Amino acid sequence: MATEPIATPIPSLRRTTQSALYARALETMPGGTDSNFRAWGEDTVYVDRGRGGIVWDLDGNEYVDLRMGYGPVILGHGDDRVDDYVNERMRRGVSFSLTSEDEIRAMELVKELTGWVDKARMTVSGTEATMHAMRVARAFTGRDKIVKFEGQYHGVHDYALISVSPDDMSDLGDPDAPVRLAWGRGIPDAVADTIIPARYNKIEALRTLFEQRGEEIAAIIVEPVLGNAQGIMPKPGFHQAMRALTEEFGILLIFDEVKTGFRFAKGGAAEFFGITPDLATYAKAMGNGFPAAAFGGREEVMSVLPDKVSHGGTYAGNRVAAAAAVKTLEILRDTDALETVHAIGRRVQAGLREVLNPTGLPYHFTGHPSMFGIMFSDVEASEYRDWATTDHELYDAIALGMHARGAMPEPDSREPWFFCEAHAQGDIVDRVVTIFSDSLDAALEARAHGGSAGHLGSAAHPSAD
Ligand SMILES: Cc1ncc(COP(=O)(O)O)c(C=O)c1O
Repeated sequence: MATEPIATPIPSLRRTTQSALYARALETMPGGTDSNFRAWGEDTVYVDRGRGGIVWDLDGNEYVDLRMGYGPVILGHGDDRVDDYVNERMRRGVSFSLTSEDEIRAMELVKELTGWVDKARMTVSGTEATMHAMRVARAFTGRDKIVKFEGQYHGVHDYALISVSPDDMSDLGDPDAPVRLAWGRGIPDAVADTIIPARYNKIEALRTLFEQRGEEIAAIIVEPVLGNAQGIMPKPGFHQAMRALTEEFGILLIFDEVKTGFRFAKGGAAEFFGITPDLATYAKAMGNGFPAAAFGGREEVMSVLPDKVSHGGTYAGNRVAAAAAVKTLEILRDTDALETVHAIGRRVQAGLREVLNPTGLPYHFTGHPSMFGIMFSDVEASEYRDWATTDHELYDAIALGMHARGAMPEPDSREPWFFCEAHAQGDIVDRVVTIFSDSLDAALEARAHGGSAGHLGSAAHPSAD
């Protein structure tokens, strides 16, 4: 059946420079980018610069940035407070593979802000942080298996890429017997076999699993909210029940706070939900975009380092990252930046409600105001599988329209919108709401005409960077 033309055309972005760069990059870089998640085919964005909450591409198109680099930029792009400090420190030299005072200071701040982490070490990425936390947990317990929840993203190492984000939920197996789904080739079965997939928010299933296999399980790793599926929240009491269960079975609880840390609260999601895990991983917001990350936990667990467990890295605790972490964490500790971020998220949600309520569309917000998603469904999602039942095609059409109109959410409904302190400036909140409203109208109009609003993105689910 032929589709009718879309009644209201989507404004088009300038693409001349970026199209040429895309063709050039394809000659050298698979997909034209350094990450599968940024490979959006012909729509791949080549960035020029960012300032505060705004980003410009190389054709001069301006967007309110709602991705904020997949979350790290908590204060704003090019924050002078952080950048000036980093600049000053890096002029003293960046790589020594010796320890600087900033590294100690950064980990002291992690301890101070979380209130429960006794010992911590820096890594360069969230991927490394979760990889090392898992190893520490295995070393401490003498057990090999790690439980991870379907739909949760813990980075790109082999132990993390299990049951992450298929489009087709049947790939995850029977709800009563989830299967181990490796994301892509190249993950050895022997490694995948050490990961046991489980369903988020299903505490009884977790109890059954622990009863059957508890003695093999070193740890359960959890993103406190399902950051890879619009930030789906835990059911009331889920984290508390999981904490109690892990204690009952001698299993460690790892909070992967790469997205939530120093964002939900100064002490991250652990503080927000009132949970004390055994280990946690941090990255993103701790460095305002610089590649700072860390893993840490309680004294007894972390005591396997340095003698019994390998951890290192030429760039672990590098000057730039450590300096960025010191300054960013000090700002988050000493100012009301996080309250500002949360208030912006709430203002945007209020504006979107005013747009959405009159339409009668079923929707709800997921996640935390600082990092929220919009699900078009009247059923409150509680796990990754629920995402498939939402009208994510409508969301994707709106996201595409928002890009064309000057705001850049991730062009995939699974990734939440991220807010930073600088989004409080000027008319940014109003711009986002107006752009959303116009994009919603256009998407609904296109749907009424039987057309689609176009497509942005490649086959790769652009989940997390
Ligand atoms: C919860 C979570 N864990 C781990 C990672 C991996 O972090 P990185 O991209 O720094 O390797 C991410 C990245 O998005 C994440 O969201």
